[in-house]
Amino acid sequence: MGQTYRCSTYLDKGGTGKTTCTAHLGVALQQACDEEVLLIDLAGKQSDLAKTFGLYEEVQADIESEDDFPNVATTMEENWTNVSDLLDDPIDELVYETDEGVDLIPAHPSLDALDADLGNVDDAQERYHRLREFLDDYVDPLDYTVVLLDLPGVANNVSYNGLWATESVVAPVQMGPLEFEQARGLEKDLGGIRDSYGVDVALEMLLPNLYDRRTNLDAEVHEQFLEEFGDVVGPEKIVASQAIRKATNEGRTIFTLDEDELSKTAREAREAFVTNAEELLTRLNQ
Ligand SMILES: Nc1ncnc2c1ncn2[C@@H]1O[C@H](COP(=O)(O)OP(=O)(O)O)[C@@H](O)[C@H]1O
Ligand SMILES: [Mg+2]
Repeated sequence: MGQTYRCSTYLDKGGTGKTTCTAHLGVALQQACDEEVLLIDLAGKQSDLAKTFGLYEEVQADIESEDDFPNVATTMEENWTNVSDLLDDPIDELVYETDEGVDLIPAHPSLDALDADLGNVDDAQERYHRLREFLDDYVDPLDYTVVLLDLPGVANNVSYNGLWATESVVAPVQMGPLEFEQARGLEKDLGGIRDSYGVDVALEMLLPNLYDRRTNLDAEVHEQFLEEFGDVVGPEKIVASQAIRKATNEGRTIFTLDEDELSKTAREAREAFVTNAEELLTRLNQ
């Protein structure tokens, strides 16, 4: 049995490309690196990852027909162990297959209530450890090479469960002064989690995203990122590409585009995702 690496996409901010990068790095790892990949969407009820893979209607229909038990939130509820004992194959009921090779455990509306419920768990060890236990017991035996978690863009009990469960964090960042400060804040927060709780979690990669080659500012801030964070910065910038927005709105990633459909920027973005995915795999292997 091989090792399963776990990695969270996280930054304490919305709109930086967490979901986009989770999906595209996942598909790059699956298709270009030939690894088995599971994506888990903890980022809230909008079910953005299901949308990105054209599964939104199916997931929504399951929720409306109440064929949504168990779901990702159930795995972190107090009675999960009792519940899972009653199910034949709990993991099979949680996982959806996508057309792009990666598997997905989609988000669920009850993640909101779960966040509040976790807040009522007195013992911090238990409050933040539930997802780790679920992954240990149910996901590791499935032999995925990489499990990528898309976390909420806020520090809350659900994102903490994600950070507690993973050894590595990928943070997509735009090249702005504010984002630079946020990246510093993230390093500090992860340091705090390591020191206060003994959790072995570190910033594995800052991923320059939505990069604009036409402005000096992006190049300048990128330099600043390299000076401060060195090799933690991913090897390739992900350019801002209309094709990414368009494809994900259509329920797919840019890896589904045929060669002759690829604009220059789309091709560049796709190659950058592959290079960053390969580098991420190397770092996870170390
Ligand atoms: N490299 C990119 N090029 C173009 N659009 C992007 C890129 N990365 C993200 N986006 C778009 O930016 C918006 C926010 O991205 P998203 O991945 O949803 O961020 P988050 O999950 O951090 O909130 C979405 O509309 C997405 O399509
Ligand atoms: Mg998101």
